[in-house]
Amino acid sequence: MDRDLTRDEFQRFHDLIYRLAGIHYPAEKIELLSNRIRKRLRGSRSDSYDAYLHKLQLPGEAAELQSFLDSITTNETYFFRCQRHWDFFRQWLEQRAASSRRKEPLRIWSAAASTGAEAYTIAIVLQQVLGTGFGGTPVEVFGTDLSSHVLDEARRATFRPYALSQTPKDVVQRFFTHSDKDEYVFDRTLAKCVTFQRHNLMEPLAGQRPFEFVFLRNVMIYFDTQSRERVLGHVLQVTTPGAHLIVGESESLLNVKHGFHYLKPSIFVRQPAPGAAPGAGTGAGAATAAKPAR
Ligand SMILES: C[S@@+](CC[C@H](N)C(=O)[O-])C[C@H]1O[C@@H](n2cnc3c(N)ncnc32)[C@H](O)[C@@H]1O
Repeated sequence: MDRDLTRDEFQRFHDLIYRLAGIHYPAEKIELLSNRIRKRLRGSRSDSYDAYLHKLQLPGEAAELQSFLDSITTNETYFFRCQRHWDFFRQWLEQRAASSRRKEPLRIWSAAASTGAEAYTIAIVLQQVLGTGFGGTPVEVFGTDLSSHVLDEARRATFRPYALSQTPKDVVQRFFTHSDKDEYVFDRTLAKCVTFQRHNLMEPLAGQRPFEFVFLRNVMIYFDTQSRERVLGHVLQVTTPGAHLIVGESESLLNVKHGFHYLKPSIFVRQPAPGAAPGAGTGAGAATAAKPAR
């Protein structure tokens, strides 16, 4: 197949992708989507876009459907992406560590984790603030993504130099081993606090105890308002009262209905339970009165 999708074909693939993953491909991305699907056409030996679309909907084609989803997602990520977010997280963690809750189990969700740079950055900051063994605090970092392919990469915990381009040199030296293939292998002991699981944000996250902190960054740019509201509803269901949510810097929640309160740009907080002790569960946000959602 050496041509791009026609408008009609584009629309049919668009609708399937939207229905499965909530991702909205704008019409101007027709060339990008065509290129991505063409690779799968070759991989699955399909001779037309329509034949491939039909195949994707057959029972028994679950593996190809997953490869398709892997191929249409954008997985850009790197360690310490958006320094302002990490400064906030560090400050929140320091306050938690100084509070009476310091020994309570701490659960953090890296939603749309891609190849794991975000989840492992969380682990690095946890160790920097809490110390080796997290000072006795039981810690779990949970990373999820729609794409199985990136999760396989995440579990390898081995990164190309690009992923560390924003990471201070001393942190690279402390937490990575440089291999002779020019790959950086993340600290195997620290990696143990991180687990990965496939999850589609369009579905509720089942079987998980609630999280105190959620990173949901740089994925909602691919969703329309309806999908964003759906995702944020699912996220709210698995957070503790007072939990924090960080979204991507460019992801405004203006005109998006959700149950969090605006704290500062791209940082949100779920209201503490009525009657909770002052500051309980709000960490760094406790100093600033939460404003209504925006
Ligand atoms: C650009 S990466 C962001 C990675 C990381 N959060 C960051 O900010 O560096 C977006 C990720 O969202 C994932 N994604 C897209 N749609 C999704 C969905 N419906 N459910 C779960 N993950 C999804 C993609 O597979 C991709 O790995």
